[in-house]
Amino acid sequence: MKNKLLQKTTNTLRGRLSLWYILSVSLIILLSLTAVSTLFWITLQDQIDHHVHTVVNEAKQIVENYQGKERDELIKNFVTVRGMTVVVLSPDGSAILETNSPDIASVTEHQLQKILTLRSLYESTPAHFTENNIRFAALPAKINAGKGIVAVGYSTQILYATFYKLISIIIAVAVFLIIPITVIGYKFLKKQLLPLENIANQARLVSGTSSLSKRINITSPTEELKTIQEALNTMLTKLEEIFKSEREFFSDAAHTLKTPLAILKSQIENSNLIQGKREEMLKTIDNANETAQDLILLSKINNKPQKLETVSLTNLITDLSELAETLGENKKLNISKDIETNILLKADKRLLQRALSNIIFNSIIYNKEFGNVHIGLGKQKNKIIVIVKDTGIGITKHDLPLVFSRFFRGSNNIDKGSGLGLAISKAILESFGAKINISSSINKGTTISIIFS
Ligand SMILES: Nc1ncnc2c1ncn2[C@@H]1O[C@H](COP(=O)(O)OP(=O)(O)OP(=O)(O)O)[C@@H](O)[C@H]1O
Ligand SMILES: [Mg+2]
Repeated sequence: MKNKLLQKTTNTLRGRLSLWYILSVSLIILLSLTAVSTLFWITLQDQIDHHVHTVVNEAKQIVENYQGKERDELIKNFVTVRGMTVVVLSPDGSAILETNSPDIASVTEHQLQKILTLRSLYESTPAHFTENNIRFAALPAKINAGKGIVAVGYSTQILYATFYKLISIIIAVAVFLIIPITVIGYKFLKKQLLPLENIANQARLVSGTSSLSKRINITSPTEELKTIQEALNTMLTKLEEIFKSEREFFSDAAHTLKTPLAILKSQIENSNLIQGKREEMLKTIDNANETAQDLILLSKINNKPQKLETVSLTNLITDLSELAETLGENKKLNISKDIETNILLKADKRLLQRALSNIIFNSIIYNKEFGNVHIGLGKQKNKIIVIVKDTGIGITKHDLPLVFSRFFRGSNNIDKGSGLGLAISKAILESFGAKINISSSINKGTTISIIFS
């Protein structure tokens, strides 16, 4: 689950950049936090050391100038701060005063003994050490005409408590900052990457040959995006030119063929060939003529402005399915219909009829005896959908992606044809802004769906 989410995030450029941004922001905040904490910790320790340093010098004065109860009272009054401890050891090393816990003196004894032997009576800089969670400053002092020691300590527990409190505040502020920084960063990235999405969306719209005249145009592109935009538009211009010259070639060839075919036809009609032979030749010429007409039609679909009128798709498909029933009688096909009433569409009726009849007739031609054909027309989420489903011989996986190509005839072709039918249907339907999809399974059948948006 976690892995899938991470994979999904890192699959997109926006996801990767966002992740990188969040990681760097978190790292910067973490480093700053560590630097601030270290600085704060050092400063806090310096302050404590400075404080105990001052206090131990003052305590030394009291210990050297006063004795007995008076000294003890003065020291106790002097040490009023919470967490502060004073220990005084006599020259023989025994504790003569401890303001807090009686154990402290014994715990710190060996440290104090060391200082006692190493330091001279006249030093004013104390020795600092930490023992039993107390930070001490110790100075030798003149006690009972010998060298004793005065130590002032401050609890590091209080130091830690203050430090943790401050760190918690800093962490809370950091977390509080990370959330808006992340949201702002994500929104900023989204805005920056929007032109890329626009390019992809616009490129997606250039799906068929009919939309090759469209150009990608994004507002205020950056240098990099401008390069991509220009490269894609140059490619589209070239593609448009290639398709245009290809269309012109087919159209010219078809037009050129029309006259010789007409002459040939009239010569055969007037020839004294035997009846059967003459009819066979005339049929071949008619087929060639039909192919030439289809090629001319194909070249016109995207060039000529269409005569758009309101067409009742309900009536058109009902008529075609009735025709399919008649044509399917030979194979004893069962034609079922599910046609919604009152479905209207703005289109060129003649072309629409041609597109749909090619598809419906294929479902009969490539069907098996006693097979089924289902013709459906309906609306889904405001989109008109036409379905033609047959239980025929089906199309191989190899042929399926090629069926919309000009002159393509599958390995399953069983009837005379030119292989232009589906190419014409697709070109017509796309010129109306519709999308055509095909799925097929060999020996099970074929389904074609058309979605008008
Ligand atoms: N419903 C279908 N079932 C099985 N194969 C099909 C079906 N529709 C199309 N095909 C396959 O797709 C190929 C192309 O179909 P298309 O309609 O373009 O050409 P055609 O039927 O061969 O000739 P024509 O130009 O006369 O229609 C067909 O030759 C056939 O192999
Ligand atoms: Mg066909």
